[in-house]
Amino acid sequence: MAALIPAAGMGTRLGESKPKAFVEVGGSTLLERSVAAARESGVIDDIVVAVPEELLDRAQQLVPAARVVVGGAERSDSVRAALAVTDAELVLVHDAARPLTPPALFVAVVDALRCGDAAVVPGLPVADTLKRVDDAQFVTDTVDRSILRAVQTPQGFAAELLRRAHAGAQDATDDAGLVEALGVGVHVIDGDAMAFKVTTPFDLRLARLLA
Ligand code: C5P
Repeated sequence: MAALIPAAGMGTRLGESKPKAFVEVGGSTLLERSVAAARESGVIDDIVVAVPEELLDRAQQLVPAARVVVGGAERSDSVRAALAVTDAELVLVHDAARPLTPPALFVAVVDALRCGDAAVVPGLPVADTLKRVDDAQFVTDTVDRSILRAVQTPQGFAAELLRRAHAGAQDATDDAGLVEALGVGVHVIDGDAMAFKVTTPFDLRLARLLA
């Protein structure tokens, strides 16, 4: 079972001086924490991380247990770069930007794959009321949140399916989106609040408080 960890984003919205995966939380980088969670799950035997080219050597020092490849301009390019070097039949894709993800979430995704799901994602109910707005920022309607899920990573796939999903070289904010476009069912299992993504300075403060 392989875990592919895209870690090549610049993290522009975070406003730090280095790419996001190399920012530290509680004494270790987001990259180290994500690799450690995958390893500690006990269900992953191959980890591939995709990083910015100039940080290839640094990444190899930080995560010697992982194989390191050069990422691409968009997240999906980085996933494709990692996918190209594994021959595992089942793969997880996990954002380095989710440093506090519990190892148990990896186990749950792998369990679902082993039970026959070809695509599985963790998701959480949405707490806030959601409104659709027009260009002038006026509400057009309120969306029924009961049928919505905020989707996280790790996301699990049959590797052959993920390869087909990425074959067109499209970009998407997650891998399940590309699988959905093929018309293949994506199973949502219970997510975990600790798997939140570090995107903004607020998220980074939160991660540092919780680490
Ligand atoms: O930007 P965002 O936080 O949504 O990125 C999610 C994950 O994808 C991060 O771990 C980031 O490093 C990674 N990424 C990547 N290559 C890119 C853009 C994002 O590996 N070109």
